[in-house]
Amino acid sequence: MKFLVTGGAGYIGSHMVNLLLKKNSEVVVLDNLSTGHEYNIQDCEHLNIDLVDTENLSKKLNKRKFDGIFHFAGKSLVSESINNPDLYYLNNITGTKNLLKVMLDNDLNNLIFSSSAAVYGKSELDFITEDANKMPINPYGKSKLQAEKDINQTSKQYGLNSISLRYFNACGADPEGKFGEDHACETHLIPNILQSLLDPKEEFYVYGNNYPTKDGTCIRDYVHVSDIVDTHYLAFENFGVSRMQQAYNIGIGKGFSVLEIIKACEQVTKNKIDIKFKDKREGDPISLVADNKSILADLNWNPQFTSMTNIIDSAWRWHTKRFILYGH
Ligand SMILES: NC(=O)c1ccc[n+]([C@@H]2O[C@H](COP(=O)([O-])OP(=O)(O)OC[C@H]3O[C@@H](n4cnc5c(N)ncnc54)[C@H](O)[C@@H]3O)[C@@H](O)[C@H]2O)c1
Repeated sequence: MKFLVTGGAGYIGSHMVNLLLKKNSEVVVLDNLSTGHEYNIQDCEHLNIDLVDTENLSKKLNKRKFDGIFHFAGKSLVSESINNPDLYYLNNITGTKNLLKVMLDNDLNNLIFSSSAAVYGKSELDFITEDANKMPINPYGKSKLQAEKDINQTSKQYGLNSISLRYFNACGADPEGKFGEDHACETHLIPNILQSLLDPKEEFYVYGNNYPTKDGTCIRDYVHVSDIVDTHYLAFENFGVSRMQQAYNIGIGKGFSVLEIIKACEQVTKNKIDIKFKDKREGDPISLVADNKSILADLNWNPQFTSMTNIIDSAWRWHTKRFILYGH
């Protein structure tokens, strides 16, 4: 089989490509390398195209055939989206619309879209269900929600198979150590903790310690990147076989506070972490934990990384290797 993976040079996309290649599929990566890395592209064709560049997009994809499209390409920094909302609306909404147009022009079907728990905004629910209110509190979340709506509407109108997978906090690294998280501007908790242990120049802060939670820090649902990409393949396999919802939560269904993650990192790395607190960040919800019953039931998803120490261990091995290879 042959797949197009947009954003395949990025963190989650590179794990998807790796999974598809292991299944002996042919893969084409479409990635403008704005936040991705050339070193992530192995054993497959790379189209260095921006999804916003309609002319180049149709030129390079015209008459090409793919069994499915995994759409990871997107900008995903909440603070950047607050400072430059138009960049996010262009990249994430227009970029997705352009991809849909190319699909229709070339009779391509089967789209799996990377959405986010950010579509829910500040949910009051202990476990967020897919039909919970969607009131994103930052342009990033708004851009993902609008892209979902555009995908749904186009799919209904033209009879496409499509699905949006709303990840909670992606984390961890390829268990074989080939790929991992490498964002030039890292805002995620686990890589920032591990990086501060490897490089004393890297400051690590906890943003906010007076949230109404068990220890005052934010609660998140952490889901391993390998488990995330497994859901994508399951979704692809299910197209046309059984009825699926338009969107699924991808989370483990368990919340961890920032301080609990720090403790788990100390346990795995056998290092003491110096905790310094800063003010809350704009746009950070108190708690985001998935109700994942739908994906478990409908796709028979069986997440492998349910232990936080195993998740952190995979990330720690990757970050240590990356520090030795690339010095950061
Ligand atoms: N990492 C998370 O915790 C998380 C959580 C929820 C949703 N997501 C979504 O998952 C997707 C992948 O996230 P990630 O962490 O791997 O990010 P990433 O930045 O590592 O990967 C995104 C990739 O898309 C490429 N890209 C971005 N805009 C593009 C464009 N206009 N044209 C072509 N290529 C473009 C980048 O170069 C990069 O390689 C994103 O859409 C993100 O919003 C991520």
